[in-house]
Amino acid sequence: MKILITAGPTQEPIDPVRYLTNRSSGKMGYALAASAAKRGHQVLLISGPTSLDLPEGVDFLPVVSAADMYQAVESQIAKQDIAIFAAAVADYTPANVSEQKIKKDGDQLTLVLEKTKDILGSARSVMNFTGALVGFAAETENLEENARGKLQRKACDLVVGNDVSRTDIGFDSSENEVLLVYPDRTEGLPKDNKDHLAYHLIELIEDLVDQE
Ligand code: PMT
Repeated sequence: MKILITAGPTQEPIDPVRYLTNRSSGKMGYALAASAAKRGHQVLLISGPTSLDLPEGVDFLPVVSAADMYQAVESQIAKQDIAIFAAAVADYTPANVSEQKIKKDGDQLTLVLEKTKDILGSARSVMNFTGALVGFAAETENLEENARGKLQRKACDLVVGNDVSRTDIGFDSSENEVLLVYPDRTEGLPKDNKDHLAYHLIELIEDLVDQE
């Protein structure tokens, strides 16, 4: 099958030398891409900047900002059987990017941010994607409730919930412990290293297509 996977953080430029980003290392998304390729799928990895090596046998589209990632996904998603959104995309981006390095003039600096486009939320409603749609949810509270809200609002077949208030799992850790939120049920998976967990997740995601 053809599988599109988003991974990593995005970088939102403030001026030529500064940007806003987050703590995503890309490990979860890259592990999913490696596992999907090992299982014989044709994988397209769309990733923000990371320091990871590209998994073998994976096509790669590097991006920087949330707007770049939106464009890359929009141009590729129609060809896919499955789309998995593991990237930590910025929800807000600077409204204006300064052409010159911002000078240290005042004691305070106010940045005006504007909402980015929701890529996962646009997959069905704007991009008309009809394949299996898997989102991730990074939450610090009410994990199941918030993940289920995302599943419903974004018309996903599965949302993989991460408790990112813990430092031993989630962002930049080698391990993760996730809650699988399906339209009709919720299942927890035990803490595991991201490579092993990713392999199991790909097996479960394949089942979503078999059920369609
Ligand atoms: O990269 P690692 O260090 O391995 O960490 C893994 C992870 C914690 C980043 C990953 O497992 C994870 O949870 N990714 C989703 C992070 C996130 O941005 O969650 P969210 O709840 O803010 O977003 C919900 C979903 O919408 C996600 O699928 C996200 O990719 C997507 N999204 C969000 C905003 C946006 N503008 N467009 C999107 O597509």
